[in-house]
Amino acid sequence: MESHKILLGEKEIPQAWYNIQPDLPAPLAPPLNPKTGKPVGPADLAPIFPMELIKQEVSMERWIEIPDPVREIYKLWRPTPLHRACRLEKELKTPARIYYKNESVSPAGSHKPNTAVAQAYYNQQEGVKRIATETGAGQWGSALAFATRLFNLQCEVYMVKVSYNQKPYRRSLMHVWGAQVHASPSELTNSGRAALEADPDCPGSLGLAISEAVEDAATHDDTKYSLGSVLNHVLLHQTVVGLELKKQLELAGEKADILAGCVGGGSNFSGAIFPFVKDKLSGKEIEMIAVEPQSCPTFTHGLFRYDYGDVAKLTPLLKMYTLGHSFMPPAIHAGGLRYHGDAPLLSLLVHQGVVTPRSYHQNEVFEAAITFARTEGILPAPETAHCIKAAIDEALKCKKTKQEKCIVIAFSGHGHFDLAAYDAYLADRLEDYAYPKHLIEEALKDLPKFE
Ligand SMILES: Cc1ncc(COP(=O)(O)O)c(C=O)c1O
Repeated sequence: MESHKILLGEKEIPQAWYNIQPDLPAPLAPPLNPKTGKPVGPADLAPIFPMELIKQEVSMERWIEIPDPVREIYKLWRPTPLHRACRLEKELKTPARIYYKNESVSPAGSHKPNTAVAQAYYNQQEGVKRIATETGAGQWGSALAFATRLFNLQCEVYMVKVSYNQKPYRRSLMHVWGAQVHASPSELTNSGRAALEADPDCPGSLGLAISEAVEDAATHDDTKYSLGSVLNHVLLHQTVVGLELKKQLELAGEKADILAGCVGGGSNFSGAIFPFVKDKLSGKEIEMIAVEPQSCPTFTHGLFRYDYGDVAKLTPLLKMYTLGHSFMPPAIHAGGLRYHGDAPLLSLLVHQGVVTPRSYHQNEVFEAAITFARTEGILPAPETAHCIKAAIDEALKCKKTKQEKCIVIAFSGHGHFDLAAYDAYLADRLEDYAYPKHLIEEALKDLPKFE
């Protein structure tokens, strides 16, 4: 009988994270101070991040040791299984072999705790008492609520208002782990109050919630800020996914032909692919597909330019694919894919042609998710469902061409808190929405003038 799961023992949890920075195909543009236009230094970032994370942000060391207390906590759910999706293959009648690396087995149900635990650890080590963050769908907020609980830190979450209302159970989970959750825009910060004054019904956005969390951290001495995606150190922590995956594929006697992942800010997909990028640059044929929603098409319709990470322009300027920091995405259900920018490291790989972006409408994405749930059993998060759609399309192409490709899905999370979205899909109440080009062009006009 063929194995359906490729499992590793706890001893095989990676000892070090893989830092891609020394192996990039082109230099990474530095973050800039928006006032001076000069590269930011550690002193600029020190009010909001602990020093160890600032060092990781710019490190050129290829391997960065994972501290023992972090590895100890990783043992709660890591290594995560690599599954062979035999039933899905059978349903599609494809000669392709489909695998998925299952990050949904973490306590919060996604890849997010991989970095939440590391970030909570470094903050605690440096005497921080309270962490402020934003969350879109609530996945990140719940991961950080869980991680801060383990290190006895207080957690303050600014949750995008549409998700706060659409996903009350993610909020409950954060409360269970002891976090305070505020609907963003809130009355607690200048950025929140300004947004509410401009539009009392403002649905919020990740960019706005980031402004609120950064302001909270900058105005409280005992508080730092934490981001769940986009930044180099976050992508670094997520490489545990790809490092385990590489070992598991070796054990299965496989070489990935296609790696597909969904992209919100870029952390889960980057974590899965970074350990394979060097192989690709040295000539191995691996297609890397980054999948995003048509309603927030950052890679497929955005520009590779310097932009702010937030609406209130409090963050440094990052060189990334962006739809403009003033972009207000529509309320599609994949809340975690609603950010206006993408990680600078992943943006660089897209710009260099190493990674290929692709976008889908939400109805076709939910259709793919249902096919997956009805064959493999696990209900994917709507974010994850984007790359399942891509994997299914690739497997169907293989059926036509009779190619026996090995397709790997970065399965970033389960959808147990997204049942309202599944209900809406099954009742035919979900609408497809491609963001109008003229509105994207409008938001892109607001980009700061830095090259
Ligand atoms: C399950 C899941 N997958 C993917 C994402 C997208 O984030 P990233 O691109 O940083 O992995 C999110 C974000 O909240 C998420 O919850």
